[in-house]
Amino acid sequence: MEGPIPKHVAVIMDGNGRWAQKRNLPRTEGHKEGMEAVRRVAVRASERGVKVLTLFAFSTENWKRPLDEIRFLMKLPIDFFDVFMPELLKNNIRVTVTGFKGKIPGPTRKAVEKAVEQTKDNDGMILNFALNYGGRAEIVNATKEIAQLVKSGRLNVSDIDEATFEDHLLTASSVTPYQEVDLMIRSSGEQRLSNFLLWQNAYSEFYFSNLAWPEFNGDVFDEALSSFQQRSRRFGGL
Ligand code: FPP
Repeated sequence: MEGPIPKHVAVIMDGNGRWAQKRNLPRTEGHKEGMEAVRRVAVRASERGVKVLTLFAFSTENWKRPLDEIRFLMKLPIDFFDVFMPELLKNNIRVTVTGFKGKIPGPTRKAVEKAVEQTKDNDGMILNFALNYGGRAEIVNATKEIAQLVKSGRLNVSDIDEATFEDHLLTASSVTPYQEVDLMIRSSGEQRLSNFLLWQNAYSEFYFSNLAWPEFNGDVFDEALSSFQQRSRRFGGL
């Protein structure tokens, strides 16, 4: 594929539940099928030379869902790495996580930490799972950390700039130096940001697909890349 490739692609994997319900299946079947889509898209993105692929796996708001579904969603990363780790390694993909670790159940946290450890020497694409992530909570958290630095005399208020702020975002530890999102994809027809990477999406290009996430594949990902290549990004300039 010729033309510029976005360095950081973020995806809101929407529509698992509706995909399943349309087929008279439990919502969880949609999430299961969604794992296959994750694999297809991760492999294609890495083949295309994307540096970071961030996937919205669980939001700070998803705790409002029924307990059964939460349990199922928390099991997905465990199953995913169980099945797909050989393929991630084969493709030189490094796994990272962005989110608030505290609330994640132990077995899920362990599985994710193990995947991060197993892939830490890979220098290909970063596959970054946003897990218990929320954009507003992230900004509040960064503000608190910065306020602490000021309070303890280690930082002057006049020295706070955008770079300071970025150092305190959750993505600072997972996807530096590519925190800024270039292309934001959302499946399933909704056209909203849903509290995803609020700061990082400031100048991203958006691509919306009507396909449900379980239907997503490498070719649809390529369509999103082609669309990105036709945009003229000016970042506020001319
Ligand atoms: C949104 O669909 C999807 C989620 C909340 C979960 C995303 C998880 C996956 C795609 C599975 C793969 C995850 C890992 C960690 C490998 P929805 O349930 O909101 O669908 P709906 O809008 O149709 O109800």
